[in-house]
Amino acid sequence: RSRVAVLISGRGSNMAALLAAASVPSYPAEIALVVSNRGDAAGLELAAKAGVPGRVVPSRGRTREAFEAELQSALEEARVEYVALAGFMRVLTEGFVRRWEGRMVNIHPSLLPSFPGLDTHRRALAAGVRLHGCTVHLVTPGVDEGPILAQAAVPVLEGDDEAMLAARVLEQEHRLYPAALGWLVSGHAWLEAGRAVVAAEGARGRSLA
Ligand code: GAR
Repeated sequence: RSRVAVLISGRGSNMAALLAAASVPSYPAEIALVVSNRGDAAGLELAAKAGVPGRVVPSRGRTREAFEAELQSALEEARVEYVALAGFMRVLTEGFVRRWEGRMVNIHPSLLPSFPGLDTHRRALAAGVRLHGCTVHLVTPGVDEGPILAQAAVPVLEGDDEAMLAARVLEQEHRLYPAALGWLVSGHAWLEAGRAVVAAEGARGRSLA
């Protein structure tokens, strides 16, 4: 199984979904490490309860270079092969992103390329879109711009507020992220000429259980 690090900044519900998927032996990834850039991230406790090593690499009050050097060492020490950003709210430098090119994924709470950045649910409601959702993409230096691996859509319903819409999207995030990460680490999805290729299940590499 491929060794994956999950990077978080807070609640960690997507991390928990990845941990749950990886607790099934036939899942192609194992979560070798959880890293938070904040010591108060609730997700760290969830990781500890699941028996997964957690580590705080503080980002506050230091340069990006110092932060990323410690992060890179933590990933190397844990012999990590892939990185999954899960509610990780810190922008990574181009140098770091290039080092993990094709091996780092992110989940974003909108149907990219609509609504990159923050406050996606509020902005979707303000725009009056009828469909909203989430995206798993490979990470490239442009924030929320990387090749798309997978998306899930949800309807925007009459009377929705931000919290209701966020909850509907989050439910899909928890399904989508384990599936998309599984494709990548098992060789069913890869980066080719700047785009993500997702092959039919079983077409290449190990199949998803
Ligand atoms: C999730 O909705 C995730 O998509 C989003 O933050 C939330 C984290 O929740 N990520 C971003 O906005 C990235 N810019 P979680 O900590 O419970 O997974």
